[in-house]
Amino acid sequence: MFTANMLESIKKVEATREERMKTEPRRMTAEEKDTLLKEFHPDYREDGFAEIKVGPNKGQKAPKELTELIHSNSRLIKDKVDINRVDYDCDVLVIGGGGAGSSAAIEAHEAGADVMIVTKLRIGDANTMMAEGGIQAADKENDSPVQHYLDAFGGGHFAARPELLRRLVMEAPDAIKWLNDLGVMFDKDEDGRMVTTHGGGTSRKRMHACKDYSGAEIMRNLRDEVLNRKIPVVEFTSAVELIKDDKGQVAGAVLLNMETGDYMVARAKTVVIATGGAGRLHYQNFPTSNHYGATADGLILGYRAGAPLLYQDTIQYHPTGVAYPSQIFGALVTEKVRSLGAMLVNKDGEAYAHPLETRDVSASAIIRECAQGRGVETPLGSGVWLDTPMIEILHGEGTIEKRIPAMFRMYLNYDIDMRKQPILVYPTLHYQNGGLEIGGDGFTKAIDNLLVAGEAVGGIHGRNRLMGNSLLDIIVFGRNAGKAAAKKAKETVLGEMTLSHIEEYEKELAAAGIDTGKVSPMLLPNYARHEREEQN
Ligand code: FUM
Repeated sequence: MFTANMLESIKKVEATREERMKTEPRRMTAEEKDTLLKEFHPDYREDGFAEIKVGPNKGQKAPKELTELIHSNSRLIKDKVDINRVDYDCDVLVIGGGGAGSSAAIEAHEAGADVMIVTKLRIGDANTMMAEGGIQAADKENDSPVQHYLDAFGGGHFAARPELLRRLVMEAPDAIKWLNDLGVMFDKDEDGRMVTTHGGGTSRKRMHACKDYSGAEIMRNLRDEVLNRKIPVVEFTSAVELIKDDKGQVAGAVLLNMETGDYMVARAKTVVIATGGAGRLHYQNFPTSNHYGATADGLILGYRAGAPLLYQDTIQYHPTGVAYPSQIFGALVTEKVRSLGAMLVNKDGEAYAHPLETRDVSASAIIRECAQGRGVETPLGSGVWLDTPMIEILHGEGTIEKRIPAMFRMYLNYDIDMRKQPILVYPTLHYQNGGLEIGGDGFTKAIDNLLVAGEAVGGIHGRNRLMGNSLLDIIVFGRNAGKAAAKKAKETVLGEMTLSHIEEYEKELAAAGIDTGKVSPMLLPNYARHEREEQN
């Protein structure tokens, strides 16, 4: 139910709708985008960042909250673990049970490796499950991987690592086929052809979707495949440190049972970090669309072992998080709502920007509207309208229920019928563009036998990611990591296991005079912290 001020503003949205629908707002010029980003995108707020004082990225900046984790101590300095008492022994250890980890495990298993997944929650508790809008692939006649590359390269401010982006777009059509063959129920027309739509910054309609629960449908199939293959999955167990051997190769991980607090040791010839994103670090106090476990753990594990980060200072704020009602503040409103035609409109009923600008531009424009007083006041701040009734006018009655049923139900739970009334949105912390640096083969450059896949990788998308390229990268890079890890495991002989890299890191912290009094990786967000501080 909307408040009186919101209902007043809705009248203006309705009054301007017919006229607005005749002329779509023009796209911004490159100069306009640049100015807007510098003034309003959170990546440009200097007070949101801090300098990293230790490790391979020393001297560079990262979000303050991530820097604090980088500067924190290993649990294993206080809690001693005998790494020679091995609990699990395998060829390939996959850390993370989301889309990238599951894809890696499936392919490693297919290649004949003895593979095991360890995940701090349950398999499928991951950002993959939360993904809504779709997955990109250039598999239609009017499209090509080259076109896909150009869109993604431009959208990422020409910063993507060419060898990574090339792999992403070239292997996209096969990723869709693989998922389709696994049983993913993509939206198809009467002739059985995939239905594809635009996303922000795409020049062709190449977004394949499963209504607006694309990630859940993909994860359902990946999880079933992992379980059908009887790949061991150790749930509610976190990797808290990587183990190396005396040759400098990665050799496994120290695990923490989240229920009992016991430590265990997993020895492995190759390790795939697939731990996902960082939304639960709530950079700059933004709400997040991410799942509960998104706390950047893999970045910390890899970094402490010596693997550099790339683009750790660039974050994606999805333009359309829920601004109202407060109960679902920050939840994702899929970009598909805009690709179906809903316009972004300020409190005066003006469509102030094209609805399908790239995400960084779109988010900045919303922040600008609100900062300059053209947002609609909400109990938790302000937001702009997403004019959803336009969808039914453009495509016919029933479109919303058919194409975006999850959105429809989410709002109906709060007595908001998005077919008849617009919805209020504001940017939400959605994705880390940066992560651990890898080569085109999926291996980190600094540590032998250590691979990274999915959101924990930096450089695939550059400094901004287009919609649908994340569900794609978890499949493409997850599958490749699994194949490569299995192959490398066959030729690997492990030496003596060691945690000396942790001791070295601690020495570096001490030499830099850093003592946060905290341990990392974070593992789970601590939402009780603020209450406790208030009470003290
Ligand atoms: O808007 C969305 O549905 C999100 C998609 C993505 O991040 O790729």
